[in-house]
Amino acid sequence: MCGIVGFTGGRQAVPVLLQGLYTLEYRGYDSAGVALQTKDGIKTVKTQGRIKALEEKIEAGGEISSVCGIGHTRWATHGAPSDRNSHPHESEDGRVALVHNGIIENYLELKTALTNDGVTFKSDTDSEVAAHLFSRAFHGDGVAAMMDVCKQLRGSYALAVITGENPGEMICTRHDNPLIVGIGEGECMIASDIPAIMSITKRFIVVGDGEIVRVRPEGVEVYTSDGARIEKEVQTVNWDIQGAQKGGYDHFMIKEIMEQPKAVRDTIASRITSDNMPDLMSEGVGIEVFKEARNIHIVACGSAYYAGLAGKVAFERLARLPVLANVASEFRYSDPIIEKGDICIIISQSGETADTLAAMREAKARGAITIAVVNVLASSAAREADHVIYTWAGPEIAVATTKAYSAQLAVMYLLALTAAKARGTLTDHEIQNYCRDMKELPSMIEGALETKEEMKKLAELYHDSHDAFFIGRGIDYAVAQEGSLKLKEIAYVHSEAYAGGELKHGPISLIEEGTPVVALACDPALYEKQISNIKSVKARGAKVILITNGDFAIDPEMCDHVVKLKSCPYFMSGSLSIIPVQFFAYYVGVDRGCDIDKPRNLAKSVTVE
Ligand code: G6P
Repeated sequence: MCGIVGFTGGRQAVPVLLQGLYTLEYRGYDSAGVALQTKDGIKTVKTQGRIKALEEKIEAGGEISSVCGIGHTRWATHGAPSDRNSHPHESEDGRVALVHNGIIENYLELKTALTNDGVTFKSDTDSEVAAHLFSRAFHGDGVAAMMDVCKQLRGSYALAVITGENPGEMICTRHDNPLIVGIGEGECMIASDIPAIMSITKRFIVVGDGEIVRVRPEGVEVYTSDGARIEKEVQTVNWDIQGAQKGGYDHFMIKEIMEQPKAVRDTIASRITSDNMPDLMSEGVGIEVFKEARNIHIVACGSAYYAGLAGKVAFERLARLPVLANVASEFRYSDPIIEKGDICIIISQSGETADTLAAMREAKARGAITIAVVNVLASSAAREADHVIYTWAGPEIAVATTKAYSAQLAVMYLLALTAAKARGTLTDHEIQNYCRDMKELPSMIEGALETKEEMKKLAELYHDSHDAFFIGRGIDYAVAQEGSLKLKEIAYVHSEAYAGGELKHGPISLIEEGTPVVALACDPALYEKQISNIKSVKARGAKVILITNGDFAIDPEMCDHVVKLKSCPYFMSGSLSIIPVQFFAYYVGVDRGCDIDKPRNLAKSVTVE
């Protein structure tokens, strides 16, 4: 993972770099550092810990006057989190400083060769080899040196380098890890992600795989890996920096939970026609895409995978198409069976998750039509898929996703309805009715947000629990899995999700007096079955929180708390039932004093295998 940033221009670089690093902290927060061109050569400051610790260390060391520098925030892979393993890394002669995001797979081989050649390494990282290689290849032309370095590296990387010799110049490149260059007025920035450049500009170019870029205040020169000069399209960010700030909330997570009506509204707005039909034609996903389809493969990681499981329910029930949902890290090595006309839908907030990208490439190579449901504009998945459908959730900063997940669900409903139209499994009238319901979804989510205070109280009651269970059937099972993940990652509570009917096959033996069980019952066809499951845990001492949209009479003996939601078509009910579950995880985490937006050991964008 890791985040990299760089600035060159007329103003002081340190505050710009720090601001950029703060916005990238979601990518890793084990250590941070900056390297700056000064009149006395390159000055590097780095430290274990977060950007705040780096800022304090820089302040303590006195002002550094510099108008060009690079910075890094680290999620440790090779080498423990420590000062010495922090980036930037310098060459032995101090002429070169480098930051790296990714993994250099052949680093050991390169390190051994460099060591045999007399280089003394100062860190345990894979990244340091690139600094030494660059310094050896550099004879005044940074682009030529970077070309040489790239030929020697295997693995994934986004690299940025400054040298003592070429003031105001940064050289960068990427392979399988994200990198953009922001182009301002007489100043430029490089970064792993868009929010990091927005303090200076909204205009940017996306560096392509293998391309090498010379960045100077007056602009950029982009070269192919063979050294041919190319022109790149300049794109413009279509949202404001306020979207990437907390705006008065205690945490990004709660802000992003509250933004879900807007995220869903923006995602569906232009995709349902005035006569209430799904319309993904501007993404090239019309009914013909689904006409020949025999199987749908849904591939993703983490919460995006759980959004895929909810999508599977919608596809299978509405379009009667078999859906194989798989986590990307398994799919890519499973020798997947892809038939002619099969569609692979990959879901990813970042569009950069290494396993998801690899899975998509595998599916494509085997002949599947690939559709990427992604949030980050111009991300790798968006660029490589046959079709991209953006979730317009805006920037999501909290490591644990909320609003991007909700926007992903909305896209899955639109895709399922498009497939149903293509296959004739629903009449136009039925599809129109569902689309009308979808238009109401943002305001229904607003209604579900009213469970906030109720869930806060429940969190107060249960935040001390060691274990929790989430149960559901059908669509509720998909939501139960996402709810359980949220509680684990945000509040560090051991939690399991089970299909209601599976409890009696083992996990019920873990239910003890007082164990909280969050039971979801939002599919009328399965209410009765789920109620039987609830009764069986209640009889064993569980404290049951029932989340339901049913207006059935609730036996007070059956559950301890009832959270009521409005009713909507069953396949969309996950968009409502996820809301109280997100609040629950959030407030349990707050009550337990957890670091909500940056949970331990996690990172938002997982660009390593
Ligand atoms: C990390 C994040 C999750 C996210 C998953 C997949 O684990 O913490 O919130 O669901 O990665 O990320 P993606 O960017 O592919 O959706």
